[in-house]
Amino acid sequence: MRDDEITRRSDERFARMRPFGGRTPPPVDLTGLPPGPSWPPLLQSAGLLRFRHRFQPHLRRRYGDVFTVRLVPQGRPLVIFTRPEAIKEIFAGDPEVFHAGKGNAILGPIMGEHSLLLVDGAEHKRARKLLMPAFSPRALQGYQDLVTGVAKTEVGSWQPGQPFRSLERMNALTLEVILRVVFGVTDEARLARLRPLVNATVDVSPAVLLGWGVPRLRRVGMWKRTVETSYALDRLIYAEIAERRASPDLEHRTDVLSQLIRVDDGGDRLTDPELRDQLVTLLLAGHETTATALAWALYEVGRDPRQRARAREAARHGDDAWLEAVAKESMRLHPVIAMVVRTLMRPTTVAGVDLPRGATVAASILLSHASPDSHPDPEAFRPERFVDGSPDPNTWIPFGGGVRRCIGAGFSLMEAVTVLREVFTTYDVRAVGRDVPKVRNITSVPRRGARIVVHDLPVEGR
Ligand code: HEM
Repeated sequence: MRDDEITRRSDERFARMRPFGGRTPPPVDLTGLPPGPSWPPLLQSAGLLRFRHRFQPHLRRRYGDVFTVRLVPQGRPLVIFTRPEAIKEIFAGDPEVFHAGKGNAILGPIMGEHSLLLVDGAEHKRARKLLMPAFSPRALQGYQDLVTGVAKTEVGSWQPGQPFRSLERMNALTLEVILRVVFGVTDEARLARLRPLVNATVDVSPAVLLGWGVPRLRRVGMWKRTVETSYALDRLIYAEIAERRASPDLEHRTDVLSQLIRVDDGGDRLTDPELRDQLVTLLLAGHETTATALAWALYEVGRDPRQRARAREAARHGDDAWLEAVAKESMRLHPVIAMVVRTLMRPTTVAGVDLPRGATVAASILLSHASPDSHPDPEAFRPERFVDGSPDPNTWIPFGGGVRRCIGAGFSLMEAVTVLREVFTTYDVRAVGRDVPKVRNITSVPRRGARIVVHDLPVEGR
């Protein structure tokens, strides 16, 4: 694809992909909704976004298992459910009625209109079908060696005895996994050009996202920089796609992009703009999320001598089930994403609550994971919850659920186990100081970066 053609496509994406298509969303009937605070919508939105770790538990204590928050613009209702029976209904809801893409519209200019996260109904079904094979258990096995290679290089570069923020190193690691395993880039020069662009794309601030509605802003300051980054990234991605399509070893390559290029569902294939949008989506959805879960896992294991010993033993003896339980328990105790949402296209009833068209419903991951009914002693880090049986359905939901369940769930668990195995066969890991969650854009991350210090294991301990 020529440079001017790529620029035209990027221009079109920025022009088209504005939240609510640049229009004011239709009003929603608020009568009879579950109770909730009567503060101004801006305050409630800030509470939910910036102070979610205190705000959500407060609302549950004050209003019970289901409550309504009113958000900007126009005090639109978000009805938050916390009980597994209700969450089951949300996940099983008719995809033509329970739309998920609407809630992610703000990411449109970056991810693009074909993004799996943004499309709904038949379009989502088709995209999901074309993408699924690249995330099948067999495909995941094919990525294992590449991930192990990246993990070995990263873990081998750590300095024993010197405390560091594990979140930073896990971010670097999962970024490398996306570039090499998902994009399948091997050329060192291209990797060096991609890294800063990808980092800048992932770091996009909420202010930039909220400013999309004002086209003039795109010519100034951080908005201008974001647009330029996005164009530069597009050029590299389209170049990679073109080369990969022409590559003589395409048939034998195991990376995600090569698999997506090969997909052929009775003649239905992914076009270049679709591939671009899905790659950027996988990058944004799959990089920091997995890094954060891994950082919390290292921190939690590193806090407790018994957990440290158990993790080292599991890594040494190939007990992947325990390492996976460590990753899952970290995701339970420290949900990376606080809730999943669906916007209703028709009036609907969820768990006996009548809801109008246009209302948004949420399944609270934060409150589900903190419920003592579902997870006894919920504040404690106990990987055995996932070994001696497993939590009840719809009580452990870090990856959401139903037809929209995270497509990268298996990938991220495979990656987490591979990285934990590498870390715990190489080092004894100790947490440094206490850490608590803080909000970073959509995700929640450890405020102090989950600081750890590692020490070489005696040779017989490896
Ligand atoms: C710990 C790691 C991760 C967490 C906690 C996580 C969480 C989530 C959640 C909560 C959703 C929304 C599900 C729903 O609406 O029901 C989601 C969707 C998605 N995730 Fe993940 N994710 C993780 C890793 C990944 C990875 C590694 C990838 C890709 C390589 C990925 C790609 C996606 C995509 C494409 C979607 C949209 C699925 C759809 O709408 O059909 N995620 N993820």
